[in-house]
Amino acid sequence: MSFIKFENVSFNYQHQKLLLSELELSIDSNSFTAVTGPNGSGKTTLGKLAMGILKPLSGKVLLEGRDISTMSLGKVGSKIGYLFQNPEVQIFANTVIDDLGFVMRIKNIEENEINKKIDTVLDFLNISDLRNSNTFNLSYGEKQRLAIAGILINEPQFLILDEPTTGLDIGRKKMLSALIEKLLAAGKGLMIISHDHKFINNFSGKVLKISGGKIYE
Ligand SMILES: Nc1ncnc2c1ncn2[C@@H]1O[C@H](COP(=O)(O)OP(=O)(O)OP(=O)(O)O)[C@@H](O)[C@H]1O
Ligand SMILES: [Mg+2]
Repeated sequence: MSFIKFENVSFNYQHQKLLLSELELSIDSNSFTAVTGPNGSGKTTLGKLAMGILKPLSGKVLLEGRDISTMSLGKVGSKIGYLFQNPEVQIFANTVIDDLGFVMRIKNIEENEINKKIDTVLDFLNISDLRNSNTFNLSYGEKQRLAIAGILINEPQFLILDEPTTGLDIGRKKMLSALIEKLLAAGKGLMIISHDHKFINNFSGKVLKISGGKIYE
């Protein structure tokens, strides 16, 4: 069974012509998929449909065989981590530790356990030195890694990263690339939405191109 499945999915924002038309797509839980295409072709929209943030006009999106429109965003979020095109929108606390501990504190997880998880994820992303930083002072690349840390701390099986290389220098791109290899090696699945062909060519997997409302492999 595929992890994410699009069945005949069409979508538009206004009552204009379809942005995405009758898409069929099947993605495995431990695979790498790149999504490319020109500006405005609907890549971010596709990612949001895969997360159930947007609902198809017609057709169905299935997550592990279940219609995603019947699932809460919280439930989907426990299975798929989603990095927004602008990572700043998903950092909400004033400090790195508060940001990463936020959901676990709501769930009343023990403080010791929370700290252990935070340390593990900071170490995994090579940002242990930012543990006590104020989130306002972080550089763009640091904010991006914090946003990814906030996703990984929920231990999702699959990640969708929307334009993760925007604003990253060569060194940071290499670090992100190594991180993605590490996640794939750990059996996670990834969908990377990106214009950056050089970056996505680092990985082996499916390359999808969205153009004129259709998807090409
Ligand atoms: N909330 C919205 N309401 C109306 N139109 C929207 C909305 N969000 C996006 N659009 C339009 O839908 C089209 C596709 O947008 P989308 O963000 O999916 O493109 P994209 O392929 O991710 O582009 P980019 O490469 O610039 O990130 C664009 O023409 C955009 O203006
Ligand atoms: Mg986009």
